[in-house]
Amino acid sequence: MKTTFLLFFLIAASLFSIAQVEFVAHRGASYLAPENTLASAKLGWELGADGVEIDIYVTPDDKVMVIHDKTTKRTTGTDLSVSTTTSKELRKLDAGKWKDEKYTGEKIPFLKEILKAIPKDKYLVIEIKTGPEIFPALEKVIKKSGKAKQIKFIAFSWESITTAKKLFPDNDCYWLTSVDKDLKAKISECAAVGLKGVDLNSKLVTSENMDKAKKLGLDVWCWTVDSPEEAKRVADLGVSAITTNRPGWLREQLK
Ligand code: G3P
Ligand code: CA
Repeated sequence: MKTTFLLFFLIAASLFSIAQVEFVAHRGASYLAPENTLASAKLGWELGADGVEIDIYVTPDDKVMVIHDKTTKRTTGTDLSVSTTTSKELRKLDAGKWKDEKYTGEKIPFLKEILKAIPKDKYLVIEIKTGPEIFPALEKVIKKSGKAKQIKFIAFSWESITTAKKLFPDNDCYWLTSVDKDLKAKISECAAVGLKGVDLNSKLVTSENMDKAKKLGLDVWCWTVDSPEEAKRVADLGVSAITTNRPGWLREQLK
């Protein structure tokens, strides 16, 4: 009898944690659509993701553009460095065709296009891939968009995420890491500087790291999880958001 009750309790707790967890579409719905394009961002939200994650750089003409790599080679076939190429040149490239012919014509987006597309009641997770040199342009475009309340920031760079927190004190900021060394000390530092939480490579989601973060009142997010088993594991441990390339599919699998 006791065992049956315990089993029932564990299943109920697991269903509850899965129901609570939010899904963030990694580089948009990037399993189906070309990553970091307007098409993949819109599809991410359409497929039910709570948030869409994108990566940003700044161009020499001060435009904030959405792309994961430092260069355009992998996603456009032409090898240009984003930080030394004007937005006019970058916009000539096709960032969709490599994924599927049907996406031919997708461009490397301006951040302002993605901001404009954020649906009501959804959010955008902006990963800052540069140092603080991006902030003058970033502040400008966010202010102009009127969407500041629907933005959360993430960055691996400590300088970038702490600067984001200073410049956007009302926005949730998460420090990203996949490094185990000194993680507990770093989690304490996140709390000390007022970050909302940490965004961990899912391999770092352990009960010890969760306990440390929770004791300090920090949220834990994780990336990049496309396996239902791993999603259940991290949800049961208490992460509040799972970043995935397959937001629609993963949610279905967990029902
Ligand atoms: O959501 C965090 C994740 O995007 C970090 O890794 O390389 O995909 O930007 P990466
Ligand atoms: Ca990213």
